[in-house]
Amino acid sequence: MNSIIERERWNTKVGLVFALAGNAVGLGNLLRFPVQAAQNGGGTFMVPYFISLLLLGIPLMWVELAIGRRGGAYGFGTTPGMFSTLWRHPAARYIGALGVLIPTALIIYYTYVVSWCLGFSFFSAIGSYVGETTREGMGAFLSGYQGVEQNEHFSGIGMAYLFFVITVLLNVWILSRGVVKGLEWLAKTAMPVLMILGVILVARVLTLDAHPDNPGWDVATGIGFIWNPDFSLLTDAKVWLAAASQVFFTLSLGFGAIQTYASYIREKEDLALTGLATTGVNESVEVIIGGTLAIPAAVVFFGLAQTQEIAAGGAFSLGFLSLPVVFQQIPFGAFFGFLWFLLLFVAGITSSVAMSQPAMAFLQEEIGISRKRAAVVLGLGIFILSQPVVLFLGHGVLDEMDYWVGTFGLVVMALLEVLLFAWIFGMDRAWEEITRGAQIKVPRIFYYIIRYVTPLFLIVILVVWGSQDAVGILMMDGVPEASRPYRWGARLMMLGILGAILWGIHRHWKAHPSLEEGKSP
Ligand code: ALA
Repeated sequence: MNSIIERERWNTKVGLVFALAGNAVGLGNLLRFPVQAAQNGGGTFMVPYFISLLLLGIPLMWVELAIGRRGGAYGFGTTPGMFSTLWRHPAARYIGALGVLIPTALIIYYTYVVSWCLGFSFFSAIGSYVGETTREGMGAFLSGYQGVEQNEHFSGIGMAYLFFVITVLLNVWILSRGVVKGLEWLAKTAMPVLMILGVILVARVLTLDAHPDNPGWDVATGIGFIWNPDFSLLTDAKVWLAAASQVFFTLSLGFGAIQTYASYIREKEDLALTGLATTGVNESVEVIIGGTLAIPAAVVFFGLAQTQEIAAGGAFSLGFLSLPVVFQQIPFGAFFGFLWFLLLFVAGITSSVAMSQPAMAFLQEEIGISRKRAAVVLGLGIFILSQPVVLFLGHGVLDEMDYWVGTFGLVVMALLEVLLFAWIFGMDRAWEEITRGAQIKVPRIFYYIIRYVTPLFLIVILVVWGSQDAVGILMMDGVPEASRPYRWGARLMMLGILGAILWGIHRHWKAHPSLEEGKSP
């Protein structure tokens, strides 16, 4: 049974917090957040954002840490086993399949996007896109790189493959080194680097001069745009959904990845302060660094109206098409462009290894292969399964996967786990799990928030979503006819991965039917 497997543990408290923060801090903080804020009324977005943080983010962070630590004590590193310790019913382990599916499907496209950051860091340093001083020009550069078109910059997709292979190999190497020598080492190295890069870039943006010819094209206007609320938008359900989704995505909640990291926490070690510290680091990077960089810099060079248009075009449009144009107009722009994409890459790689770890633990514990072999199998799996994303990017395969696993799936997973934990396992035992070993006093109000408010909030989100856009998205309204087969292919692929995970769970539990409570390592 799992409990006889010697499990690795985080070596130090600092390492644990850095690892969890590295797990959470990612492209979501630096690209997704500013765009979500800009698209949803700037300061108005911040109101539901902070409410969601309080009622969903912090409580779910504690819930996931507690489920993970408890599962780890039984020898489980993934949610199928963890959920079985909460509910002695076979359904629990199959529900837990979601916590392996979501991060695994996510890394298939996330790792590819992380590799673009590495590529663009390199191109910034060697000046490849110098001369492309418009967003359209940068759009052609990016499309050439992605193999969507051939142009004077790229004649094929070779470069994108090269950086993708490097990124996947780096992932495999870190994962194969294990929890302490791989993940903890990476977090302790990468997080300080990320902070330093972030601070240098923030200082650069804050000292940008206002545009000489256009009044209002300045940093203060950009920051004001993110922070000034337009309260009339607060009644719009879309803004609330966007804020709640952002809280999930940025804190890596509903993924299964926080639970796996928590399974390497010692049984009596604090969770309460660790969860708050992780949330605090993530939010500082998101709100301070993420909020200060991309949008204000764009406002100085494009003005507010065009920046709004850019933000409507999405995170990639802002990060990959507009900021390189900005960097070309400031002294040492190549250097700052290099730093910006390196910052994205560092943030991305610590999240991509974290999202790979549930699959690693699953392969080792449920399928029974060694760590090094699991890392290689996973690396090959990511590379092979990402081919539809790489080759049919223009048909929206990435967006299709991102909606189902990166947006919708997170909320479903979070609802199921909070119901299992607070209602089936029982809130009194759940509270004991959260507060055991706590280095801070968790306010009692969170007992009631976790029990009533968080699940209710999640149900409301799902109901509103369901009534507003679920059917349309399911039926692919607005998706061009030519792209539909590719998107259906993406759906089938995700179902295929789910099928393989369910089969693995079935096989494992047939061989090891009992939980062997109390036999913690
Ligand atoms: N939490 C990770 C991010 O923000 C997934 O990118």
